[in-house]
Amino acid sequence: MAFHSKYVCQQCGYESTGWMGKCPECGTWNSLVETIISTGKGQWVKGKRGSNTPASKTVKLSEIKQTTTKRISTKISELDRVLGGGLVPGQAVLIAGEPGIGKSTLLTQLAASLSTGDKTSSTVLYVCGEESATQVKVRADRLGVKKSGIELLEDTDVDSVINTIDNFQEKSLQAVIVDSVQTMTTSDLSGMAGSVGQVRECAFRLLKEAKSLDIPLFLVGHVTKEGTVAGPAVLTHIVDTVLWFEGDKTLTTRVLRAVKNRFGPTDEVGVFEMEDRGLRPVDDVERVFLEKDQKHVSGSVATSVMQGTRPILVEIQALIVPTKMSFPRRVAQGIDSRRLELLLAVLTRRCGLPLYDSDVFVNVAGGLKVTEPATDLAICLAIASAYFDKPISAKIIAVGEIGLLGEIREVVAQAKRVKEASRLGFTTAITSKDFDYVGETIKKLLK
Ligand code: TYD
Ligand code: MG
Repeated sequence: MAFHSKYVCQQCGYESTGWMGKCPECGTWNSLVETIISTGKGQWVKGKRGSNTPASKTVKLSEIKQTTTKRISTKISELDRVLGGGLVPGQAVLIAGEPGIGKSTLLTQLAASLSTGDKTSSTVLYVCGEESATQVKVRADRLGVKKSGIELLEDTDVDSVINTIDNFQEKSLQAVIVDSVQTMTTSDLSGMAGSVGQVRECAFRLLKEAKSLDIPLFLVGHVTKEGTVAGPAVLTHIVDTVLWFEGDKTLTTRVLRAVKNRFGPTDEVGVFEMEDRGLRPVDDVERVFLEKDQKHVSGSVATSVMQGTRPILVEIQALIVPTKMSFPRRVAQGIDSRRLELLLAVLTRRCGLPLYDSDVFVNVAGGLKVTEPATDLAICLAIASAYFDKPISAKIIAVGEIGLLGEIREVVAQAKRVKEASRLGFTTAITSKDFDYVGETIKKLLK
C-alpha cells in the first residue's frame, strides 16, 4: 500500500500538505503534526464500514486459558523490583530522565546481564543513535563489560534498524535497546529527528516489531525543561512501562521510579548508587538516606516514607538562625515549601514557638524528594529540636500527618513503617497512637 504524509492539526483535524506555524482553521500555534496517510482507497459496501475490512472474531472471557506471565530476570535486583519481578516478552519500556543521570549506563549494564557470554544464541542489540560505537565502548570498558554478546548499531534510520532486527537468527535476540528514540527518523516523513511526528512514528514502528517478535524493547526518552518526556504525549501511552530515572546529579543516589506499568505495580522504586564503575543496586536503602552514625546534634529526626510498597527511612534536618532581614527566610530542600510554611504556622500558633523572627532551613538528607504528609511530624520535631537546641534521640522515629489544629493524624501503612523501623534498630515510634497533639509531643521530648 502506498503512503504519503500530511500535516494534521492536533486540535481541529485540519489537513495541509506543508508545515505552518499556525493552523489556518482554528488558529492554534504549532499544532500541525506530520502524519502518515494511507492512500489505499476503500470502496463503500452497503451494510459494511471501511474498505474491505472483514468482521473480527470475539473470544469468550471464560474460555481464555489462564497463563502466568513468564518473567525474564534482568539480574539487576532493583530494576527487577521496579518492573514487577522482571521483563515480559515483547514489553516496551521507556526510560526517561535528564541528560547525564545515567540512562545509558543502566542500559549498558542491562545489555551485559541479558547477553550471556560468548554464545551467539543470546545477543542484545544496542542502537546508539546518540553516541558513536567507540563512545559506548569507552563506557562499557569503564563498567568492566567484556561480553561479546552485545551488538552495537550506529544508525538513526528506524527502518534499517528494524531490518537489522529481522536479520537476527530466530530467538537469538534477547532485547533491543534504542538510545535514544529522539534520534530515530524514518524517510517516510520529512520532519526533523525529534519532531513530534518522527518520534511518534519511529516508536510505533519499533514497538510493532518488538511485539511481533516477543522481544523486550527499551527506548531512552529525553526530558524537556518542563520535566516531561520530549516528544508526543502519545509516546507514554503506547509503551507498556514508563520508568523515570531521577536524582540529584551532584549526589550519587539515583532513584528509578515506575510511573506506568502494564505488567506490574506503579509507584515502585529502585535505588542505585552511581559509582565510578557504574550503577550499584542498593538493597539496604535505609543506609543511604539516614546519616551514617548519627551524632547527638539538635535538629535531626528520622521518619519513614513509603516508596511504592516499601518504607524508606529518611532523616529530616532543620536549622534555625535569627533573621537579619525584615522577612525571615524559609528554605526547604526535598519537601514542598508551601507545606513547610503551613507547618511553621502551626508551630507558631499552636505550639507557641515564636518562629517569625528566625530563618528556617529544612532538608531531607540524601537528596530524596518527599511529598507525603507522613513526614509532617518529623519536620515539626526537627524544627523544635533546632529551636530549643536539644537533640532528639537517634533511636526515635516520628511518623504522622499534622492538621491545622496541631493534631497528629494517622497515616497510611503506619504499622508497616513502624515495624520496618524497629527491625532496623529504632526503639521508640512517635505516632498518633501515643500522642494527640504536636505541642504535647514537643513538651514531652524537648522541655
Ligand atoms: P550516562 O549514562 O551517559 O547518562 P545519560 O545517558 O542519562 O545521559 O551517565 C552520565 C554520568 O554518569 C556521567 O556524568 C558520568 C557518570 N558515570 C559514573 O559516575 N560512573 C560510571 O561508571 C559511568 C559509566 C558514568
Ligand atoms: Mg545517554
